Amino acid sequence: MTNQEIKVTPYSAAVGALIEGVDLSNRPSDNALQQMRAALRYHGVIFIPGQTITPEQHLGFARCWAEIDVNRFFTPVAGYPEIAEVRKEPEQVTNIGGGWHTDHSYDLEPAMGSILLAREVPAQGGDTLFASMTAAFDALSDGMKRTLRALYAVHSSRHVFGTAGSTKRADLKGRIGNAEKVMADVVHPVVIRHPDSGREVLCVNSGFTTRFEHWSEAESAPLLQYLYQHASRPEFTCRFRWTEGAIAFWDNRSTWHYALNDYHGERRLMHRITVRGSAITGSHRLA
Ligand code: SIN
Repeated sequence: MTNQEIKVTPYSAAVGALIEGVDLSNRPSDNALQQMRAALRYHGVIFIPGQTITPEQHLGFARCWAEIDVNRFFTPVAGYPEIAEVRKEPEQVTNIGGGWHTDHSYDLEPAMGSILLAREVPAQGGDTLFASMTAAFDALSDGMKRTLRALYAVHSSRHVFGTAGSTKRADLKGRIGNAEKVMADVVHPVVIRHPDSGREVLCVNSGFTTRFEHWSEAESAPLLQYLYQHASRPEFTCRFRWTEGAIAFWDNRSTWHYALNDYHGERRLMHRITVRGSAITGSHRLA
């Protein structure tokens, strides 16, 4: 570990880093926080296994980064309104997050990141995939980059958390609610400059992006589908295998994630705290 307090090991070429040498039952030192911040900025998601921590300690760690951005649709952990429960019971079929997405992109100021802690994991399965939107953007042609820089896209929570969405996904009842809290759709630039790394990042996702601004859904679909297929290429991704007490902390501005739903008949219980992001230049609410 030379003069470093913590050890940071890349998890795949494009995305993810394993963090060792921290115990989050105590507030990390400023030096450790600075190293984790640098790892998050560079790798997009950090994995911190082996944390035996209480919900208060989980909240304490989250507050080292930013204010908490409470998710308005997820059922909270009992007694902890700021912690969202990501639960799938053995008899349930549908999971939460089972498709490529980034959290809260339907908000005008999308969350900076999410800190997911594994409380109970299945014997096999239930891994989470991550994809780097920095690597995906970098790999596009100059012509495509130029085209995308001029575009804006509409992001919505309506089809997922609104009345129509929740009826379609009745199995999520009790885990997802508050359909009335869906707000007007928002528009973000398709390419944003990451506020910390300064790098360009692809800012669309198949979970919440519905179309390009001033384009119809039908017109938008071919280019969006191309971007989704391109950005989820294996070389831009990594796959994290959970163990109880592991944490994945991802940067929502530069990554996507995908919760695999391959553990039917078993319980998977995670606690998620989402931390606040900042305004994106050019974003606005759809009139
Ligand atoms: C999420 O999409 O926030 C949940 C991810 C997971 O459960 O792995």
